[in-house]
Amino acid sequence: MNPAPSVEPALFRRMMGRWPTGVAVVTAREHGTDHGLTVNALLSVSLDPPTVLASLGVDADSTPVVERTGRFAASFLSADQRALSERFARTVPSEEKYRGLAVDRTPGGLAVLPGAIARFECEVMSVHPGGDHRLVLGEVRWIDLPGEGMPLVFHRGSYAEPDGVGGLRLPGARPP
Ligand SMILES: Cc1cc2nc3c(=O)[nH]c(=O)nc-3n(C[C@H](O)[C@H](O)[C@H](O)COP(=O)(O)O)c2cc1C
Repeated sequence: MNPAPSVEPALFRRMMGRWPTGVAVVTAREHGTDHGLTVNALLSVSLDPPTVLASLGVDADSTPVVERTGRFAASFLSADQRALSERFARTVPSEEKYRGLAVDRTPGGLAVLPGAIARFECEVMSVHPGGDHRLVLGEVRWIDLPGEGMPLVFHRGSYAEPDGVGGLRLPGARPP
């Protein structure tokens, strides 16, 4: 039998670009140092127990911290927090990501971001291999819903912009 045809990574990236997502910053803390990264591969898995899955790159500095400490938090960014998405997506030492940034704390002491539309803390239930990522299942132990603002939306490699009438315009999408 012939092997399944392989797919170009660039084509795969374009395909997934057509799947709009929210944007979150996942944080962890070890030996008094905060770590964190921007993610859009985050999804709800189970209601009972309340469980999310975060797909974290094997090369990301934050990933082994999440695995070692068995805990992470996440902040769902609001539409006006694009700068925070970019800040936490940079490959710089974690101290730089947090420099000059005010954070709030979960009951477990993890950093969550003021202005986010939802913040929560998880205990890691299990970690699974996922190609060049680690699939981290976390049971949600604490939830904070500070506001009803619009989410930051990522689509086709870019962020949705406010459309001026209270909604969002997806990048690359034709106006009606
Ligand atoms: C919009 C957006 C979404 C991202 N989603 C993910 C993701 O789901 N998982 C991941 O591991 N990295 C994701 N990244 C890349 C990480 O944020 C980036 O590699 C980061 O520098 C890792 O930080 P660290 O090495 O300090 O942990 C995303 C970046 C952007 C801009």
